[in-house]
Amino acid sequence: MDDKDRGAPPDLAPPKGTTDLLPPESWRVSRLARLAMDTFAGAGYGPVDTPIFEHTEIFERGVGATSEVVGKQMYTFTDRGGRSLTLRPELTAPVVRAVLAANLQRGPLPVKLAYAGPMFRQERPQKGRYRQFYQVGIEAMGSALPAVDAEVIEIGSRFLASAGVETTLLLNSIGHVDSSCRTGYLKLLVEYLEEQRDRLAPVDAERVHTNPLRVFDSKEEATRAALEGAPYITDHLCDDCAKHFESVRTLLEDLGVGYELEPRLVRGLDYYTRTAFEFVDAGGQQGKAARLGSQNAFGGGGRYDGLAESLGGDALPGIGFALGLDRILIGAGGGPDDDVAGGPVNAYVVAIGAAAARPALSLATRLRASGLGVDLDLMGRSVKGQMKDAARSGARWAVILGDAEIASGESTLRDLTSGAESRVALEDLAGLLAP
Ligand code: HAM
Repeated sequence: MDDKDRGAPPDLAPPKGTTDLLPPESWRVSRLARLAMDTFAGAGYGPVDTPIFEHTEIFERGVGATSEVVGKQMYTFTDRGGRSLTLRPELTAPVVRAVLAANLQRGPLPVKLAYAGPMFRQERPQKGRYRQFYQVGIEAMGSALPAVDAEVIEIGSRFLASAGVETTLLLNSIGHVDSSCRTGYLKLLVEYLEEQRDRLAPVDAERVHTNPLRVFDSKEEATRAALEGAPYITDHLCDDCAKHFESVRTLLEDLGVGYELEPRLVRGLDYYTRTAFEFVDAGGQQGKAARLGSQNAFGGGGRYDGLAESLGGDALPGIGFALGLDRILIGAGGGPDDDVAGGPVNAYVVAIGAAAARPALSLATRLRASGLGVDLDLMGRSVKGQMKDAARSGARWAVILGDAEIASGESTLRDLTSGAESRVALEDLAGLLAP
């Protein structure tokens, strides 16, 4: 093929709303994801991995057709077999599907699972809002007890604190779909919204009958003003839901987890029942995550006691959360030291002279096999160039090999922080370099 047939070269920028994650930023992301999965594992949440795409109806039925996510943001396509598939916009519905598919609901309960991975939503990109973004999260399925709510929320707030973001936990209960509380309340809310219809932004006026609770999510000034005086669900909970909510609050206080009651918090996905919560930037417009602008939620979650049944499965109460790593990284800031320190390379092997190149590669390989993080020059650099590259690699040590060292079965070990050097027998190196 000649150049003419190849046409214009492809656009090398990633698609709109996505980014290429490369070092050093990618170090921070993978470190944070590992910290999350370790934190979750420490409370008995095992890793779950489901496909990046699902049958579209898993989201339509699970997340709900009236939600913004399903209605407007899904990447849906038809495959060559004529099936409608969707790139996952979230993972709660897929995880519940996977649990039901494997019949885990018939085994020991609760089923506690944790995940980290990319999600996809076709939103208008802006700071903290992307079309491919990274979530970590947990789901606990099989128990309706308030203790699970408290456990899940505590784990989320502890992880966020260790990730270095200051958050405020907003807490609400939106009642149970089956119990009289939600149904009775919705009647009152619709009546109120009907009275205010003229004051609502058009997009919210449309929601009055399709999804009245969601009106509380509105960012429109006019709607927010019209909502002052609206009835709140928390004042209309049935006895069971009120009791559940009170227990959750007592348990959170036991665990020392601070929260603010936010009766307008309804969350954006249709599956929520009872407890709903969100971790928002504590600094507000003044704080670090003022950088985040309007995308001030680091994450959120809640109960979804009816989700398994809406997927056609057995009843299986559940609760979980998902946190957005992209936003956590913006909120946590992080300097240049943070980018390199803690990278996996501990030592850099420097070869003096062409004859040392082969022994240097063998030595690096042996040290790697013993479990150490080791790098070396693969560009034929001068010694000076190699020392520079060693510093760039973030290694603590340079292991220098020249003719004299090779002849005596030794290396010169240089501490790259202090500059101190000593001769060390090759067989003692691995022990000395262990972090
Ligand atoms: P969500 O509120 O839709 O909940 O998303 C959780 C978090 O993911 C958000 O607070 C945000 O940090 C991040 N996120 C969402 N969309 C974007 C985006 N376009 N760009 C960057 N970050 C984003 C859920 O996904 C539920 N599945 C949470 C859950 C788990 N509920 C129960 N279990």
